[in-house]
Amino acid sequence: MNTKTIAANWKMHHGPDEARDFLEKLLPNLSTRKKPRILLFPPAISLQTVSAGIEECAEIELGIQNIHWEVEGAFTGEHSAAMAVSVGVRFVLIGHSERRHLFRESDSEVKDKVSTAIAAGLNPVVCVGETREERVQGSTESVIKRQLDSVLAEISVQAPKDMLLAYEPVWAIGTGMLPEAHEIEEAHSLIRNRMREKIGQEASLSTQILYGGSVNANNSEDLLKLKNVDGLLIGGASLDPLSFSKIIESAVSV
Ligand code: PGA
Repeated sequence: MNTKTIAANWKMHHGPDEARDFLEKLLPNLSTRKKPRILLFPPAISLQTVSAGIEECAEIELGIQNIHWEVEGAFTGEHSAAMAVSVGVRFVLIGHSERRHLFRESDSEVKDKVSTAIAAGLNPVVCVGETREERVQGSTESVIKRQLDSVLAEISVQAPKDMLLAYEPVWAIGTGMLPEAHEIEEAHSLIRNRMREKIGQEASLSTQILYGGSVNANNSEDLLKLKNVDGLLIGGASLDPLSFSKIIESAVSV
């Protein structure tokens, strides 16, 4: 659990040409010292380019931003877990707030995607987090528990090799607003304790919990020092190879 994880969610940015260009700039910038584990989540159309580009770099692993919960079928525009595995993907983001809120994904769909991912050999990175209104109403804890519980019920049936959770308050994503340090620590310890209750001490300790929402090269080191913060999930600041390499560097020094 000492090696931190630094994950880049490129969302709908960086097609194959830009992805290649990004790697050409990022890779020479990575220090030769011990590196954190780095996960890249490019758009699906850039997966093969990124997969080829990171072949020589064992610390960087590939993730897909979304999968369908069915194994195959007539689902125009979707990608299956097996397709992702076939191009070298090992991780999948599930339950990202943009999927939950813009695409109306329910807790039950999130659970089904987790189940399909694990069955195909993918490691889920499950995102949870409250909206601004939910925080103001005092329901942060109940929202996180609700989002977690259906997923943990699935995990207790099929255990993934390497699951990660991400606490991403919806109101902090892409806004430049960060929760107070104690609020992040409270949410992460809630997640850790809930895991211990539902899936046991060992699994709870071996699951990394990432923080995401307005992370950048100036705040990453402080965030990584917080209790139970095992890594970061970064959107906007992961698009620029220089700022992303500074965030990676901050994880080496923590
Ligand atoms: P942000 O996005 O870093 O741009 O706030 C984080 C995320 O959506 O995972």
